Amino acid sequence: MSGKPVCIADFEKYAEKFLPKSVYDYYRSGADEQETLADNIAAFSRWKLYPRVLRDVSVMDLSTSVLGQKVSMPVCVAATAMQRMAHADGETATAKACHAIGTGMMLSSWATSSIEEVAEAAPSGLRWLQLYVYKDRELTRSLVRRAERAGYKGVFVTVDTPILGRRIDDVRNRFQLPPHLRLKNFSSELALSTRKDFGENSGLAVYVAETIDASLNWEDIKWLRELTSLPIVVKGILRADDAKEAVKIGVNGILVSNHGARQLDGVPATIDVLPEIVEAVEGRVEVFLDGGVRKGTDVLKALALGAKAVFIGRPVLWGLAYQGEEGAKEVLRVLKEEFRLAMALTGCHKVEEIGRSLLRRHEVLFSKM
Ligand SMILES: Cc1cc2nc3c(=O)[nH]c(=O)nc-3n(C[C@H](O)[C@H](O)[C@H](O)COP(=O)(O)O)c2cc1C
Repeated sequence: MSGKPVCIADFEKYAEKFLPKSVYDYYRSGADEQETLADNIAAFSRWKLYPRVLRDVSVMDLSTSVLGQKVSMPVCVAATAMQRMAHADGETATAKACHAIGTGMMLSSWATSSIEEVAEAAPSGLRWLQLYVYKDRELTRSLVRRAERAGYKGVFVTVDTPILGRRIDDVRNRFQLPPHLRLKNFSSELALSTRKDFGENSGLAVYVAETIDASLNWEDIKWLRELTSLPIVVKGILRADDAKEAVKIGVNGILVSNHGARQLDGVPATIDVLPEIVEAVEGRVEVFLDGGVRKGTDVLKALALGAKAVFIGRPVLWGLAYQGEEGAKEVLRVLKEEFRLAMALTGCHKVEEIGRSLLRRHEVLFSKM
């Protein structure tokens, strides 16, 4: 690639060239045959835009709110583990970039910067904690308490990872965290830094099997609901009945996610299940989406199908690999400008105007012919 990246695919090309292979593979991979990985992206193309014209889009407002907090655009950053493999400043660079652009960041439990370091990097920035429920409930509780103390505005509890999905490249590469890094939220034995004996498997898969609670169930979500008054979002919902159950328990949001296609291969693209989840929750909580969002029109399509906002995972890693904080900022800027263009060209000057009438599913058109 020559010159400055101008779209998310350009950032990925740069990252592929400059990151160590095992790091790029870890970031890029989906589970197993990676059918869902491809579909998360392809599915957006099956939804076609039907723009409204003559709508005066000379003045635009891209802002909205997420769990009651204002954001400059409906694009936030999803939790991705171990960001210091992409750039030495890792999650602290992402926090600063999000703050500069006016959007929110979800910090992974498996970050290579601590909850507190990330808060200090951008003290007035908007951030949420992504929570993995450890077998050790005291430890899990302490992560939530630390987030509360450090001014985090919510907890995204990941519910699709009782066991780590099988990412073939990570198994082949026997993926491990580079020795100079650790999972900064934990003391040494849980920091993934001191162990070398992962055998033939991905080091992360072994770690998850040993530490994360595979017995995770709805009682744990109730436990979490009682534990904190912070807003709770369940991350990793793909079914209407699960969404309804979560709402019944009193969560504040649903993140429609297939974990960036890294858990169960063969599940649908998130954009395709979004409508049924939105219908199921009947406006009682905010619904978000992640998975395959790479363009401004993807953001618009998700909003048209009822998402309050979307989250991006890999694009920020590519931005970090490109130029740390500046690169992450540039990724967010590119998406913001693409989203502005998508709104203008569909005749929307406020996000509230983005509605279902702007979209039709390609296959539906064919089946009518
Ligand atoms: C490298 C990588 C690491 C991730 N780490 C986590 C994590 O620690 N916790 C979590 O809940 N989700 C994690 N995810 C999933 C993301 O939060 C998000 O659901 C997904 O990346 C969205 O898809 P996208 O990458 O296509 O935008 C990770 C995803 C990637 C690509």
